[in-house]
Amino acid sequence: MTDPVNLESLTKIPTHVAIIMDGNGRWANARGLPRLAGHRAGTENLRRVIRACVEFGVRYMTIYAFSTENWSRPKDEVDGLLMLMENVIDNELEELNGEGVQIRHIGHMDGFAPGLRAKVEHSIELTKNNDRLILCLAFNYGGRDEIVCAIRNMIREGIPADDVTQELVSQYMFTAGVPDPDLIIRTSGELRISNFLIWQGAYAEWYVTPTYWPDFDREELYKALQAYAQRDRRFGRVSSEP
Ligand code: FPP
Repeated sequence: MTDPVNLESLTKIPTHVAIIMDGNGRWANARGLPRLAGHRAGTENLRRVIRACVEFGVRYMTIYAFSTENWSRPKDEVDGLLMLMENVIDNELEELNGEGVQIRHIGHMDGFAPGLRAKVEHSIELTKNNDRLILCLAFNYGGRDEIVCAIRNMIREGIPADDVTQELVSQYMFTAGVPDPDLIIRTSGELRISNFLIWQGAYAEWYVTPTYWPDFDREELYKALQAYAQRDRRFGRVSSEP
């Protein structure tokens, strides 16, 4: 079968793709499986989509794996998601490191058990010099929380009010040094931002697909990148030309 992916048709590739991996629960429900089976399938899919991002030349990828609001899910689901995060590190770190993937974390590590925290810190340290793909794991992350933290830190450091610029605020975000997302993908059809990268996503292009996250494969990512390549990003101007 011929590969439907034709990289030459992608006239521009987003530097930074951010993904709201939604629909794991409904994917499982449709199959009569427990919700955690959906998260497991979602985790498997994540491996494939990371590889596809590397293949397509995406340089930064941010994935929304656990929001500050997700703590209010049933305890066994929360525990399951924390366990999956640990499994991802245990099973994938060596290969991701070998492929040149740098792992970053955005959000808070408090709330992680000491073992998980140590593993996340180790992954960050081990991969810090890799630059093929920068993979930001948003885990215990919330956009409003991030902005509040940035404001607190600026005040603590005594930054004068008139020195506060958009560039400075960006440097106080968890994503300091990471370019803003060019494309935000949300699977499973919901049309909301869900507290994800609300500062950084100001001018991101959105792509929403009804496909549930576990089924969002390489070809679906290609379709999202094709859609992105057609967009005229004007950033508030009348033309995308400078
Ligand atoms: C949203 O689906 C998905 C999540 C809250 C978790 C996403 C997590 C993964 C894909 C796996 C874990 C990845 C790492 C790195 C640990 P939902 O549960 O809200 O689905 P629903 O809306 O259909 O119920």
